[in-house]
Amino acid sequence: MDKKTFYITTPIYYPSDKLHIGHAYCTVAADTMARFKRITGYDVMFLTGTDEHGQKIQRVAEASGASPQQYVDKIVDGIVKLWELLDISNDDFIRTTEPRHVEAVQKIFKKLYDKGDIYKGNYEGWYCTPCEAFWTEHQLADGKCPDCGREVELTREEAYFFRLSAYQDRLIKFIEESDFIQPESRKNEMLNNFLKPGLEDLCVSRTSFDWGVPVDFDEGHVVYVWVDALSNYITALGYLSEDTSKYEKYWPADVHLVGKEIVRFHTIIWPAMLMALGEPLPKKVFGHGWLILEGGKMSKSKGNVVDPVVLADRYGVDAIRYFLMREMPFGADGVFSNEALIGRINADLANDLGNLVSRTVAMVDKYFSGIIPKPSTEGEHDAELKELAVSTPRVVEEYMDKLQFSSALTEIWKLIGSTNKYIDLTMPWVLARDESKKDRLATVIYNLADCIRIISVLISPFMPNTPALIWTQLGMDHGQGTGWEDIKEFGKLPTGMKVRKGEIIFPRIEQDRPQRQNTKEEEGEAKVEEKFISIDDFAKVDLRVATVLECEKVEKSKKLLKLKLDLGEETRQVVSGISEFYSPEDLVGKQVVIVANLKPAKLMGIESQGMILAASTPGDEELTVVTLLERIANGSKIT
Ligand code: ME8
Ligand code: MG
Repeated sequence: MDKKTFYITTPIYYPSDKLHIGHAYCTVAADTMARFKRITGYDVMFLTGTDEHGQKIQRVAEASGASPQQYVDKIVDGIVKLWELLDISNDDFIRTTEPRHVEAVQKIFKKLYDKGDIYKGNYEGWYCTPCEAFWTEHQLADGKCPDCGREVELTREEAYFFRLSAYQDRLIKFIEESDFIQPESRKNEMLNNFLKPGLEDLCVSRTSFDWGVPVDFDEGHVVYVWVDALSNYITALGYLSEDTSKYEKYWPADVHLVGKEIVRFHTIIWPAMLMALGEPLPKKVFGHGWLILEGGKMSKSKGNVVDPVVLADRYGVDAIRYFLMREMPFGADGVFSNEALIGRINADLANDLGNLVSRTVAMVDKYFSGIIPKPSTEGEHDAELKELAVSTPRVVEEYMDKLQFSSALTEIWKLIGSTNKYIDLTMPWVLARDESKKDRLATVIYNLADCIRIISVLISPFMPNTPALIWTQLGMDHGQGTGWEDIKEFGKLPTGMKVRKGEIIFPRIEQDRPQRQNTKEEEGEAKVEEKFISIDDFAKVDLRVATVLECEKVEKSKKLLKLKLDLGEETRQVVSGISEFYSPEDLVGKQVVIVANLKPAKLMGIESQGMILAASTPGDEELTVVTLLERIANGSKIT
């Protein structure tokens, strides 16, 4: 029998700038869901991509002196790398500049035109370029965009229109009678604020710029960027192309994940377009909340963004993914802060999960010479723990089906908590003192290890790298007993395997370590760009020349090198994120420039007494260490 299919999408992001943790949030959620559906037996299609056309992109490209295509190519490259870094398992990546998409959008536009759902007229009204949205006079809020509060532009041009008004009644009925829009609160907002007051026909072509999909039967018109963008969900499946097998297999989508600010486009324009095309409607649009920094929604245009690359590098990919899915209920807004992140890592990961694994492995080592023992004598507390362990998968599945990631994790952590508590209740160290209790001790230790097996599978959609680390320590290198059905049963962990005491999976992070002066951005806090500094500001930075005496890679880090530097009067140890670009031997003997008066900081537990200057391309794709034209005495000051 064919597997059941599951099709999930993220918004296609604007490549107007590199992405921040807010975009990563939605993509991580979609990835977690996709992974969950895969392990529970579905044939999954997980799509993400980039929304590359429109006036906004054309303008930023022009301002940077590049062509729009060159501009987006570069940013998209960084986005693809970001998803690799975060272990995003998308099955496809659609770019709206790809021919497969452009051709299909032209066919969609023509099909709607031929049906009479698109007609030609004149547009006169307001346009918000940051939102790429049309507004009527009465929709404006104090003359500004009602969504983002920014300036709008008066637009007057010949344009095509989509007969959106004709679908109003069908849309209202569909939305009222289904659970298409999630969460519920967004459903009422759409009905009351947009649908019931009445829909006007939508302007769907532009002539005042050309960075878009050309309307192939009317030169000078490009397709409105939202019509272009929304179509990605079907063009990626080959809709109206020569090979429509994926479309037939996966459409309609099971869920479109989107931020709450674009629910409107996905629940009004998109279903109306599909109704007009005579195609089935997606089953669900879930509007998730925003990650907020103190001071408001993170946004590229405000410049207060948190860089996921920096966070992942510092705290690890699985820790970041865990935090994003755990910290706030999916659907609600949440404040992003470093303290909360570190708090979660220390409490939930280092303490609860990490300690459970290391304690258990240490006990197998100590009491059973490292061999997972056979369980035999049942005792108090066993039944309760086992019952919880094998019922947790079902509860997790229920929450996941409602996209309640945080609640699913709460359930998994209840099991982790109970397993830790089982250690305290059974007191293996007491059993170990009494030779006659050896059988009971074996059972206790086995039960712990078997709970960890179940936990490792439950966390795998959230933290794709951690299970293998756990399995290695438990000696289950082939992932024995880790199918979804296996974890609904107790006792599937083979006995006789040799555990391997390994490194700590989640090291604790020192909360109160000294902060370096310039780590605001690296710490993931608000980056507020100020254009000018005074000469006094510059004079505060003590830049010195130093020679690299020794250099080595930092273990377990892709990015970090540890260097010993000669500063003339003193030597210093500095950690630098340049390992991807330099091997240690490239640097030994070279002179570099360091910021000598940075407060020392610890990177992956290693103290760094200063920072080496390097030039970076946008997105840090390349880093070049700053050097001097000629050699000069170590310790020389740069002024
Ligand atoms: O709107 N918190 O693209 P976009 C949480 N191209 N999520 C956030 C966020 C934050 N602070 N900031 C962004 C577009 N997001 C269109 C979409 S789809 C056919 C076209 C996430 O680059 C959230 O999912 O502005 C939001 O909807 C999306 O990024 C917007 O990305
Ligand atoms: Mg946006």
